[in-house]
Amino acid sequence: MHFIELASGDKMPMLGLGTWKLSRDEAYDAVKTAIANGYRHIDCAWIYQNEADVGRALKECMDAGIVQRDELWVTSKLWNDRHHADHVEEALRESLSDLQLDYVDLYLIHWPVAHQFGIPRPASGEDFASLDQIPLNHTWAAMLECVEKGLCRNVGVSNFSAPKIQFLIESTGVAPACNQVESHPYLQQPGLAEFCDKHSIVFTAYSPLGSGDRPETMKTAGEPSLFTDPVLLALAEKNNLSIAQLMLAWAVNRGTVPIPKSANEDRQIQNLAAAAVELSDEDMQTIQSLDQHHRFIDGTFWEVPGSSYTVSDLWNE
Ligand code: A2P
Repeated sequence: MHFIELASGDKMPMLGLGTWKLSRDEAYDAVKTAIANGYRHIDCAWIYQNEADVGRALKECMDAGIVQRDELWVTSKLWNDRHHADHVEEALRESLSDLQLDYVDLYLIHWPVAHQFGIPRPASGEDFASLDQIPLNHTWAAMLECVEKGLCRNVGVSNFSAPKIQFLIESTGVAPACNQVESHPYLQQPGLAEFCDKHSIVFTAYSPLGSGDRPETMKTAGEPSLFTDPVLLALAEKNNLSIAQLMLAWAVNRGTVPIPKSANEDRQIQNLAAAAVELSDEDMQTIQSLDQHHRFIDGTFWEVPGSSYTVSDLWNE
């Protein structure tokens, strides 16, 4: 397994198991099989509603001596209704309790979107809090305090654009250790990747396989399909890889950290093996040419009438 070093010196395994979309039972089973097969990086979040099941699996793996805590990388994320500085530590403590851990390796602000406290899923514009009401740099300062308290080893962000990260750096002097964003051959985000590189921010790629199992409400008619892309299919065949493995190997070879979700043990094994595959410069360039800046997770679900959030402000595009 390749590792990538964060600004703190901590080393993150360059492929992790994504846990979004796993039901509670699936999450428990998936984490157990993943760890048994060599996964050492598990990506979690409060909003996935399965952290207690992930935690049960982690504890059983550690109790059975399959893995030690310091060999594991566990990430969790602050949900949008806990952005106020008064609620950040409490939210992290809740995730730690569910995960049955004393600390997480990385804690991220999940979205640059704030809700009113206690409203995880907003139904109307009034359920949101604007970024003027709860500024991102206040949330960020509270995240940094959690590192001081030993509740997490590193802090970072998710779904943040370069200007939003720049704002955090300018107001607190501390860059996030990581930015976790959607990335796959159709959404390569070269400008953001370069910005992250410049500031020693690890670029974690969520939905690295295009997240075909995301809810129907997040799908659009006529969207492109990675798994049937003729160029990817041909390159996968040439390299004796599955198309999923090709996409994951590409992600690792370009210095990003993919976190594919799979509830299936065979596919988990296949995905982990891809992290060790080296692709030629020529194949890397061919995949680079496929970029079409297509977001499968486009953020339109935050554009609720009456809220202050728009997709163009969200991505600063
Ligand atoms: P499953 O959980 O049944 O394996 P993403 O990580 O981009 O969100 O994508 C997750 C989707 O990709 C899930 O539908 C998952 O199905 C599927 N998937 C994961 N690994 C593979 C693989 N190696 N080959 C094909 N599909 C995969």
